[in-house]
Amino acid sequence: MNFEKSERLKALPPYLFIEIDKKKRAKIASGADVINLGIGDPDKPTPSFIIDKMAEAIRDSKNHRYPFDEGVPAFKDSAAAFMAERFGVKLDPASEILTTIGSKDGIAHLPLAMVNPGDVVLVPAPGYPVYNSGAIFAGGRPWKMDLTAENGYLPDLEAIPVDVAEQARLIWINYPNNPTAAVAPLTFYQLLVEFARKHDIIIASDLAYSETYFEEPPHSILEIDGARQCAIEFHSLSKTFNMTGWRLGFAAGNPEVIGALAQVKGNCDSGQFNAIQWAGKEALDNYKHDDVLAMTQTYRQRRDALCDGLSAAGIETPRCAASFFVWGKCPAGVSSMDFVSRVLDEAAVVLVPGGGFAPHCDDSFRAALTVDVDRIEEAVDRISKIKW
Ligand SMILES: Cc1ncc(COP(=O)(O)O)c(C=O)c1O
Repeated sequence: MNFEKSERLKALPPYLFIEIDKKKRAKIASGADVINLGIGDPDKPTPSFIIDKMAEAIRDSKNHRYPFDEGVPAFKDSAAAFMAERFGVKLDPASEILTTIGSKDGIAHLPLAMVNPGDVVLVPAPGYPVYNSGAIFAGGRPWKMDLTAENGYLPDLEAIPVDVAEQARLIWINYPNNPTAAVAPLTFYQLLVEFARKHDIIIASDLAYSETYFEEPPHSILEIDGARQCAIEFHSLSKTFNMTGWRLGFAAGNPEVIGALAQVKGNCDSGQFNAIQWAGKEALDNYKHDDVLAMTQTYRQRRDALCDGLSAAGIETPRCAASFFVWGKCPAGVSSMDFVSRVLDEAAVVLVPGGGFAPHCDDSFRAALTVDVDRIEEAVDRISKIKW
């Protein structure tokens, strides 16, 4: 048989981290003591109050059957209560909230619910790659919005040509931002809602890092008047509760968009395991639990050690205000690929090159705060010895 991948799959952009991944594997295989600041996956276990709830729920045979298509109602009630308490946004759990299998599930499937072949999807660059691949799978045409330091890593809405805006169905945003750690002020959300309503575009806001912050709590776009008519927001339990492997999130916002996404998902999956949804309910009901808040303190200590340490070594690394990513500047004249390669070769520390996210970010690198502070200090010490 002559197997060929679908045109859709072939249309995905090449994976730009391939070289650095190869080098990383070789370094680990060589037995070096590698410090991995490359992975955006919390290193600490899920808090035990959530695991205890899971243990109870898994023994209840009612949870062993197919999940409800649109989620355990009690989980959605807790998601609505979280939205009301945290953001002051009151939503109807039945029509304005949808349970997802991690936020990635919702993000990847949303374009299938609303993008027709040839429609434009506005995606941030740099950005989480699934905005782009989801658009391509639906036959849409991703149009890159360059996020730059000059614009505070917010899309410049005025730079989007009118004909592009007119053909766009969907615009993706993500604050706190991966990889730049930028946060969006409410004034930006206000402008975005006006822009979206003018051009009849649905806003998809990815709030995966909403609860990891060191200054003001990040906002939800649904706080803006009129946003509920034109926006859907994706929330994740992965990072807030150290639950990446559990695969649980929810979408919130415009009921027609939520309904269309539910219809796509109803044809792709049968929802997340009920016991996980009960554990997720316990997590959301206790999002201010000491064990959850302690993670932010941990990330704060790590952030200060990394940012202050690298900055003192002459590598400009501003303290991030939110997320567990740090977005630093490579030394002048050194490309991100060269910087990250030498740091791996000479210091056995894994960083992510900005150029892998977007060509105009080739002067930057990303580090994740997902190792303990003593290892971060060790990484800083090793990197500081490299002469540029
Ligand atoms: C910006 C952003 N959005 C969404 C996700 C997906 O998270 P999950 O599917 O675990 O909820 C990630 C994961 O790294 C991410 O960085």
